[in-house]
Amino acid sequence: MLRKLKSFDLQSQRILIRVDFNVPIENDTVVDDYRIRKTIPTIKYCIDQGTKVVLMSHLGRPKGKIDSKFSLMPAGEKLAELLEMPVKFSHDCISDDAINVSQNLQSGEVHLLENLRFYNEEIDNDSQFSMNLSKHGEIFINDAFGTAHREHASNVGIVKHFTNKGIGLLVEKELEFLSESLQDPSLPLLLIIGGAKIDTKIDVINRFLGLADNILIGGAMANTFLAANGYHMGKSLVESDKIDIAKKILLNASKTKTKIILPTDFNGELNSLGSEEFEYADKDNIKENMICEDIGKLSIDLFKNFISQSKTIFWNGTVGVAENKKFAVGTESIIDEIVNNECISVIGGGDTIAAVRNYDNELISAFSHASTGGGACLELLSGKKLPAIEILDKK
Ligand code: 3PG
Repeated sequence: MLRKLKSFDLQSQRILIRVDFNVPIENDTVVDDYRIRKTIPTIKYCIDQGTKVVLMSHLGRPKGKIDSKFSLMPAGEKLAELLEMPVKFSHDCISDDAINVSQNLQSGEVHLLENLRFYNEEIDNDSQFSMNLSKHGEIFINDAFGTAHREHASNVGIVKHFTNKGIGLLVEKELEFLSESLQDPSLPLLLIIGGAKIDTKIDVINRFLGLADNILIGGAMANTFLAANGYHMGKSLVESDKIDIAKKILLNASKTKTKIILPTDFNGELNSLGSEEFEYADKDNIKENMICEDIGKLSIDLFKNFISQSKTIFWNGTVGVAENKKFAVGTESIIDEIVNNECISVIGGGDTIAAVRNYDNELISAFSHASTGGGACLELLSGKKLPAIEILDKK
């Protein structure tokens, strides 16, 4: 059984926590601290228990080389600001000096290690590397939900070196909303899927066939589904090699209780992205030179109607090019409708969360849960096991 953070006696113990501080950094400054903020309850809880806290994370993909662009130092500064206390930082995650700092921590002190991926051994799940990392703590806690779909030294290999191990408060919450809440959801259950690539979402859609009452599909992915239904999508992004997959999904859906709903009209531009030759069309009248970039007003009303009837909603992927304000209207209408509806609402995926925050930063807390995971969130929603959680679940 998975052991939860609050089941441990933490007083004066040294706790090693795998966090996911893989956050965007520009000019040595964290530009989006969402993932760091989400680990604060775990870290604060440990501090309050008089625990000595050691944190480790990866940042980006530095390919096993030290590269200052991928240093976790800015994340450490952000963490110190959020905790309103100093955070010790080590420039290497397994050096004797770093291990010394951890072993000499006082109760309530926090120590952050440099990027684990400065060593290839991290992603190779090297056993010597995980053994060295394990010297930092007496208890191991995984609170890095965003990385839980990876099988690396710091989240899988390391586990065998600890008798006392478990999950942090963030992972506990993610599992509750992305896995447990699907076991007996309040109905009607709605899945909203957007974004560009069908490949990344096939498994989620297939899992929800028969489980969800309705699936709304938007974003460029909808173009491929409409093309599969024989519509001409002009110059819009269509994954021609995925049309057969889209057809198969539509056919499979027709054999279940799940309705797949596609947009019926679009806003976009003529000729090229950014041409500012704006165009509106319903799905039967898309010009050869039109690029569909957002769902249109009829589709918005259609989608809102399904949202308002739903009691549980999972949403991953924007329904338009939401980073462009002109084509964020569909996505923002969905946000408004969900937050005004009394339902369990779970959102995931970096683009979806960024769209909510760009629209109104405060609104993120109006959702029941906003996942810190991208790939990990999709895998869990697809019903797959996450290796870093599985291993903690074994006896
Ligand atoms: C993520 O951002 O999805 C996680 O931090 C995992 O990063 P990775 O895709 O580089 O393994």
